Amino acid sequence: MPEQALLEQVVDKVRPLLGQGKVADYIPALANVNPKKLGIAVTTIDGTTIGAGDYLEPFSIQSISKVFSLTLALTLYEEHEIWSRVGKEPSGQSFNSLVQVELERGVPRNPFINAGALIIADLIQSRLGAPKHRMLEIVRELSGNPSILYDKVVAASEYEHSARNAAIAYLMKSFGNFNNDVDTVLHSYFHYCAMRMNCADLSKAMLYLANRGKSLSGRQLISPVQTRQMNALLATSGLYDGAGEFAYRVGMPGKSGVGGGIIAVIPGDMSVCVWSPELDLNGNSLAGTAALEEFCQRLGRSIF
Ligand code: DON
Repeated sequence: MPEQALLEQVVDKVRPLLGQGKVADYIPALANVNPKKLGIAVTTIDGTTIGAGDYLEPFSIQSISKVFSLTLALTLYEEHEIWSRVGKEPSGQSFNSLVQVELERGVPRNPFINAGALIIADLIQSRLGAPKHRMLEIVRELSGNPSILYDKVVAASEYEHSARNAAIAYLMKSFGNFNNDVDTVLHSYFHYCAMRMNCADLSKAMLYLANRGKSLSGRQLISPVQTRQMNALLATSGLYDGAGEFAYRVGMPGKSGVGGGIIAVIPGDMSVCVWSPELDLNGNSLAGTAALEEFCQRLGRSIF
């Protein structure tokens, strides 16, 4: 099991990489972050959390929310109702690409690219009267932190620059694969992305992925089989068109967000969250990926 000193070593080793990536600026409010931040937290299945660097500083979780959304959808629907609307394959395209959605007649490749996450948000919208409220409730319970909030400034900034996500949603609607009002679903989706959490919150909240679907709070959120399936999808699609490189270097199922966070798990053992805002060309945290690589190397662990 990792120790505090190991996390400190990882942070020290990776810190020189700060300055080599680029903070996401296509959502203007995200560009206001201090680019030199770097944090890591680990939660083991005995319920212990340790961290190093800026691991207690909240950041915009962005696409990491797509894991919570899919989990919530799995609790609301039969599996065929989800997988008839979104696929399970890596996309090989950038996370907000439109071309594949057109070529593949409105059915996105997987639930972690924006198109797929918008389908999941549409599904959630159809079943819940207050989806944003429910999402916050779940995330607060999973992390044990009742003060987690939506960053209204980031959500509004996303909404003001929503042309691409709106285009994706309308394209899917034109193929009959989108049921609710596009603006309503975008509003929910942007809020999910705009949740502010720190590395400790996220490593705790994701523990169910390492613990056969059982949360840190002791709730069986999804079944052991669904958890295994979720981890398989994360390993193949969680890092978008950087998934192969991430599997090669890190060797854990993971999910990134353009806020610079990445969560990753070793099933049966632990969940990890790293954060560093500067991104590589695929939109994944540059120093964060290096930190996870260093962590796995030093620990001698990988799922492969
Ligand atoms: O919809 C978007 O583009 C953002 N709210 C989320 C994108 C994201 O985090 C992709 N991850 N690397």
